[in-house]
Amino acid sequence: MIDGSMLPVHAGAVRLFLHVLGASVWVGGQIVLAALVPAARRAGGPETTRVLARRFQLVAWPAFALLVGTGIWNLFAVHVGDQSDAYLTTLFVKLLLVGVSGAGALGHTLFARTKPALGGALAALGLAAALGAAFLGVLLAG
Ligand code: HEM
Repeated sequence: MIDGSMLPVHAGAVRLFLHVLGASVWVGGQIVLAALVPAARRAGGPETTRVLARRFQLVAWPAFALLVGTGIWNLFAVHVGDQSDAYLTTLFVKLLLVGVSGAGALGHTLFARTKPALGGALAALGLAAALGAAFLGVLLAG
């Protein structure tokens, strides 16, 4: 007989919820934007895509900051100093990908207007790195 009581909410659940929320906006947002931009450009021209991209940044960069903040919280929560070499290597590669993801996105915003091909390549690199970071995150939490 189910007594109706739910699982207790502990700090770890809040920490991972916030980390995954940041990841869903940062990674999911880039995927959705990549799907919407070509249609927006056809329908409204380059100014429309610029308005969309600028709007996306208003949620994307706070999401990235949330990822870094909750990521550091994760490191304390998992007692990173006590983890295995394999865990630390996975974490190191993940943090490299996080850096490439942020630098790629920033590079994209800097070059998208003046060097569209380079801007596009940096956006693709940033998204690929973010997807890799998300996968390694699930591996770490597994
Ligand atoms: C692009 C940025 C990032 C993405 C997309 C990302 C994504 C994720 C995901 C999806 C998880 C798995 C959560 C789960 O299975 O419940 C995770 C876990 C984790 N992330 Fe991140 N993360 C990012 C940045 C960071 C940063 C900057 C740090 C450290 C400073 C970090 C440290 C960790 C740790 C230690 C875990 C394991 C948490 C646990 O076992 O409780 N992450 N990450």
